[in-house]
Amino acid sequence: MPENRRISNRVAKIGKSAIHEMTRLSKEVKDVAFLSWAKPTSDTPEHIKEAAISAIKSGLVGGYSETSGLPALRQAIVTKLKRDNNVDANASQVLVTVGAIEGLAAAVMASVDPGDEVILPTPTYSTHIRQVVIASGKPVLVPTREDEGFVLDIDGIKKAVTPRTKAIIYCSPSNPTGTVFAEEQLRELADIALENDLTVITDEAYEYFTYDGHEHFSIASIPEMRKHAVSCYTFTKTYAMTGWRIGYLHADEELIPQITKVHIPFAICAPVVSQYAALAALQGAQDCVADFREHYRAARDLMCERLDRMNSVFEYQKPHGSYLMFPRILLEEGKDSAAFCKRLLKEARVSATPGIAFGPTGEEHLRLSVCVSEAEINKAFDRMEAYFK
Ligand SMILES: Cc1ncc(COP(=O)(O)O)c(C=O)c1O
Repeated sequence: MPENRRISNRVAKIGKSAIHEMTRLSKEVKDVAFLSWAKPTSDTPEHIKEAAISAIKSGLVGGYSETSGLPALRQAIVTKLKRDNNVDANASQVLVTVGAIEGLAAAVMASVDPGDEVILPTPTYSTHIRQVVIASGKPVLVPTREDEGFVLDIDGIKKAVTPRTKAIIYCSPSNPTGTVFAEEQLRELADIALENDLTVITDEAYEYFTYDGHEHFSIASIPEMRKHAVSCYTFTKTYAMTGWRIGYLHADEELIPQITKVHIPFAICAPVVSQYAALAALQGAQDCVADFREHYRAARDLMCERLDRMNSVFEYQKPHGSYLMFPRILLEEGKDSAAFCKRLLKEARVSATPGIAFGPTGEEHLRLSVCVSEAEINKAFDRMEAYFK
C-alpha cells in the first residue's frame, strides 16, 4: 500500500475484509452457490415489523432516545438477561447499541490503551481482531484445540497473560467454528480473568443457536465476574434483524459510564425505530427463535452429510452452535485458503470464506454458512463433488 500521510497508521495497517472481498467477487459470477455470508436469510417476523411501523406512525421515532436506550427496552432486556442468561442485572447496567458490533467496539475502546494486549482464542470473528487494532491494542491470538472441536486452550491462555494484558475477547457460540464453549472451561477462563484483573468481553450473538444438548453459558452469570465482564448481545441473529442495527451490552455500573463515553461520539443512541422493533421482539411470541434454530440444525445436518461424502477433500469438527462450520481442506492447494476460495468461486461457482480471514490458525480451512436454503447447500455440494472428482 502506498504511504499516505493523511491516513492514520492505525487504519492503514488493517487489510481488506476477506469476507466482504469474497462477497464482492461472488457478485461477478453468475448463478453462484453462496455459502460465504453469515447473515440470516429469513425476513424479520411480521409482528416486529408492525411494531416499527406503528412507532413511526405514532411519531415516536423522529428524535433521539436516551443515549443508553429507551427505558422500556432496557427493562425488557433486564428480564431477558435474568430468564435466559441467568444474569442479575438492572436497567442502569444495560446500554442499547448499534448492533453487537458497536457495543464490542465501545467496550474495546473503553478498556484498551495503545500497546495493551488483548487475548483472543482463534480462529475467531475477524472484526474482534480489527477492533483491537483500531484501539491501538495488540491482539494476542491463542489457538483453540481443533482436534477436540475447537475448544479453548486454557493452559495456552494462561501462558499468554503478561503484565500488559488487559482483556480477553471471545465469541460463543463461535463464528467461524460453531463451537459452544462449555461452562466448565468458561469458569476456568473467569478464574484467569479474576487472578489477573482482566476484563472479559463476550460476543454472544448466536446465544440461541445451540444443538445436541450443548447449552450457552454467559460468563457474566458468575457473581465474581460482575466487575470483569462486558457481555454483548444482538437482535441481528435471534430475530433476523441484520439491517435494523440493534443490540445491547451488559456491564457493571462502574463500567457503563466509561463505555457510554465512547458510545456517544460514535452513535449518540441506537436507531430509535429499531429500539421499538426490538422491544416488540422481546415482548412478543418467541416461536420464531425456535423455528430458526430448527432450520439451522437441519441445514447443519445436511451439510455434515454432504461433507462426509467428500472426506478426501475436507475433514471437519461437527459444530454444536451458531450456523457456521469450519472444515479443514485436506488438499495441497488448500494451504492457501484465499487462493483456494477464489479458484472454487471461479471454477466451481461456489462462494466460501477463506479460513485465513479468521486469524493465522484459520489457514487451510474454509468457513461455510448453513444459514441458507437446503437447495443452496445441495447446489454447492453437487458442484464441489463434480469439481473435485
Ligand atoms: C460473532 C458475530 N458477532 C457479531 C455480528 C454482527 O452483529 P450485529 O449485527 O449485531 O452488529 C456477527 C455477524 O455476522 C457475528 O458473526
